[in-house]
Amino acid sequence: MVWNKPRAGLKIKLRIISLWTLAFASALLTLLAIHQLLLPVIAWCLPQLDQRIYDIGSYGAYPTQEYVSFNLSSPRSSHVRWDEQCERGFVLISPNGDAVSRPGPMILDSTGDLVWMSDAFGTTMNLNVHRYQGQDYLTFWAGNKAGSTGKGAYYLLDAAYNVVRTVSPVGQNLQGDIHEFKITRNDTALMTVYNVTNMDLSAMGRPVDGWITDSIFQEIDIATGALIFQWRASDHFRGNDSYMTNPFAGYTESIPFDFYHINSVDKDSQGNYIISSRHFHTVTCISPTGETLWVFGGRSSSFADLSDGKASEFRWQHDARWVSEEDGILSLFDNEDAGVLHVDAAYSKGMTIQLDVANRTATLQNTYTSLQLTRAASQGSLQVLPESGNVFIGWGSSAAYGEFSRDGTLLCESHFGASWLYWWSRIKSYRAYKTADWIGTPEYPPTVMIQSDKLYVSWNGATEVKFWELQRTLTDEAEEEDFEPVDIIEKEGFEGSFTLPSAGLWACYRVAALDQDKQVLGYSNEVEEEPSQIGLGFWVPAFVVLAIVWWLVGPLPAVKRALSRQRSHCMNWTRYKYAK
Ligand SMILES: *[C@@H]1O[C@H](CO)[C@@H](O)[C@H](O)[C@H]1NC(C)=O
Ligand SMILES: *[C@@H]1O[C@H](CO)[C@@H](O)[C@H](O)[C@H]1NC(C)=O
Ligand SMILES: *[C@@H]1O[C@H](CO)[C@@H](O)[C@H](O)[C@H]1NC(C)=O
Ligand SMILES: *[C@@H]1O[C@H](CO)[C@@H](O)[C@H](O)[C@H]1NC(C)=O
Ligand SMILES: *[C@@H]1O[C@H](CO)[C@@H](O)[C@H](O)[C@H]1NC(C)=O
Repeated sequence: MVWNKPRAGLKIKLRIISLWTLAFASALLTLLAIHQLLLPVIAWCLPQLDQRIYDIGSYGAYPTQEYVSFNLSSPRSSHVRWDEQCERGFVLISPNGDAVSRPGPMILDSTGDLVWMSDAFGTTMNLNVHRYQGQDYLTFWAGNKAGSTGKGAYYLLDAAYNVVRTVSPVGQNLQGDIHEFKITRNDTALMTVYNVTNMDLSAMGRPVDGWITDSIFQEIDIATGALIFQWRASDHFRGNDSYMTNPFAGYTESIPFDFYHINSVDKDSQGNYIISSRHFHTVTCISPTGETLWVFGGRSSSFADLSDGKASEFRWQHDARWVSEEDGILSLFDNEDAGVLHVDAAYSKGMTIQLDVANRTATLQNTYTSLQLTRAASQGSLQVLPESGNVFIGWGSSAAYGEFSRDGTLLCESHFGASWLYWWSRIKSYRAYKTADWIGTPEYPPTVMIQSDKLYVSWNGATEVKFWELQRTLTDEAEEEDFEPVDIIEKEGFEGSFTLPSAGLWACYRVAALDQDKQVLGYSNEVEEEPSQIGLGFWVPAFVVLAIVWWLVGPLPAVKRALSRQRSHCMNWTRYKYAK
């Protein structure tokens, strides 16, 4: 009896707790059901809400577009801003992250439709088009990504998407890092290298023989592979001047201190190098002999800021380039964020700054912010497009890219992931670039696939196709001339489809890819439409009608008999029950 009271109290408490847990779980489940099931239906009914529902993740972190004639999936982007002033041309991205099952380099057209992608290289970074020996090549980094750096090599693909060259840094145990690969006008390559080595970190209260990740860049003659120039951050800068705080780094080789973090390298017409350091918040100019000519931003900028500090207050930035050397216009992507411990502003922005190098003054020119004031904790790029002067920005760890007029007006913005989930970076592209200079002419043929009564066609990477022509032959063992055109459609988007004419006979189809003058660029594989498939169209309904008729006239009486017998069984059973 003494024990009963507290036990009853405990029982009640347990009951209340379990009731609350149940209520909470069912509320969560309801929310999840609304988010995953109801909202997409609402979006389907009210298309004007689709962008919102996309951004809150109802279609997942990375909504994709699937194809019938192609086995990889591409982003199903949400175009939250659109303007005719945005340049035509191709968007170059390399989606990766844990929401991307098969990452790789990817070309989209200006409307976001897939042009080319490959999963043959694993995780890739920094897809771009560079001119080498008078020809355009797709270039990117591929290899093993380790945290925010990488160990790999740089690939050059020709117009047929064949790897024609790989480039690697020079030096023992040195491998190509993700952050930079650029081919200069002199057919040399600029690249970044990260190397774990020792540095005196005693000024930070850490070991004299502390461990750092050194930031190195190299210039290499691509044709000979010879090293032209090498620069190491550890030769010029100290660990304690870094803005990056990492209380555990520097003590062991396995956790080195990434004190400088180089993330872009460019070269000017004088042969000077311009580099960006994320962890020093600086853009530094280095002479061909390795002297530091000036430092812009950071703890001790060489430049007086004529914009009340606004020209040089970029932090954790990426992708510093000269837009115009003559006018002294520099551009960069200002993250203002390097993870939870290093958030310095509410949003990231693109910046153009006027540097008067002779007088050492800096003036802020323009800033560029996304529609939703996106902040990118890492990565990102800014490119001034050569034709229009528009500014094209890739929002790095946030899966979006956008285009602005020079004065900072947002013209176009596309999301290739849900913006509410950007913080988790489950889908991202290190950089995003736009180019008009790409012509892809694959050597492999277009692929076709029949599904239901439709034939689907695509040709991964072929940029010159303007029409698809469906051709058919009814002759077995068909020769080239036996194929006759049946239908022609304009190529729109990555994959085209034809509704097959119901011939009722065996037929063999193929698709000719035509250029704008209707010249044949290539023929697809041939696919047969089996007569059985054609026959089904007639025999299935016929069989159904027959079965119904048979059921009505044939076994109906038998079923009736069986039913009446069963009914009597039931009656027996009820009688038995009530008798009891
Ligand atoms: C896609 O993959 C499947 C299975 O691996 C294969 O049978 C099919 O032919 C592929 N389709 C194309 C268009 O490559
Ligand atoms: C890379 O680091 C190793 C030590 O870990 C060092 O011996 C080597 O000189 C470094 N390479 C460069 C180019 O700094
Ligand atoms: C780093 O150490 C050097 C030498 O001890 C010192 O001059 C400098 O002020 C230190 N930097 C910072 C940011 O404390
Ligand atoms: C190209 O090479 C010339 C001659 O060596 C040099 O003066 C120039 O700075 C180089 N330009 C670039 C962009 O590397
Ligand atoms: C430096 O400033 C002076 C005075 O403001 C100006 O006259 C001169 O042109 C400037 N120099 C350059 C290289 O722009």
